[in-house]
Amino acid sequence: MDWYDRNARIMPWRIGPMQKMAGERPDPYHVWLSEVMLQQTTVAAVRAYFERFIARWPRVQDLAAAADEAVMAEWAGLGYYARARNLLKCARAVAALGGFPSTREGLLALPGIGPYTASAVASIAFDEPATVVDGNVERVMARLFAVETPLPKAKPELTALAERLTPQLRPGDHAQAVMDLGATICTPRSPACGICPVMSLCQARAQGIQAELPRKLAK
Ligand code: ADE
Repeated sequence: MDWYDRNARIMPWRIGPMQKMAGERPDPYHVWLSEVMLQQTTVAAVRAYFERFIARWPRVQDLAAAADEAVMAEWAGLGYYARARNLLKCARAVAALGGFPSTREGLLALPGIGPYTASAVASIAFDEPATVVDGNVERVMARLFAVETPLPKAKPELTALAERLTPQLRPGDHAQAVMDLGATICTPRSPACGICPVMSLCQARAQGIQAELPRKLAK
């Protein structure tokens, strides 16, 4: 967390340290929109799309009221158009409820929200200790605990490890810290172990096998 406080990547859907100190929380609409966009698309590519969506539809109610074609046109280039259709379906359900549900359970009940998005929004926007697992998190867990089981078989094991590490305090920041660590230091090829804040805890590093993990089942 100390590393994250000093190194968190600046993203338009995150709040800054001053807002955090003032007790503010990220807007659930921003968190949800960014997490949907970030599935299958890089942070670099998502940034501009996110800014345009928020400028055009500042609240989830505005997005819910948008014409389908307008949203599809704004989405053009992000790919995976089923995501845009689900996005609108979800926005309309949220608007009908009067706002985002504040629990993982409630979020999971929305159309187009799966376990990943529900956990991300619950932890980042609502401080619920839900565990967020994406490819970055899986890689960090595989290395920290030197998990030799190949993917995809290792998924339940890696999820259980990530759950064990999820703190009651600042679970959303913890989730984003692990994702940032995976994206910037614990990278797939040649991880920067020399500047890693958890180098001394890393079992793969101790064995010198960090670059080999996570193992993958030959296709
Ligand atoms: N990838 C997907 N969601 C992310 C987030 N909130 N922070 C960093 N990387 C992410």
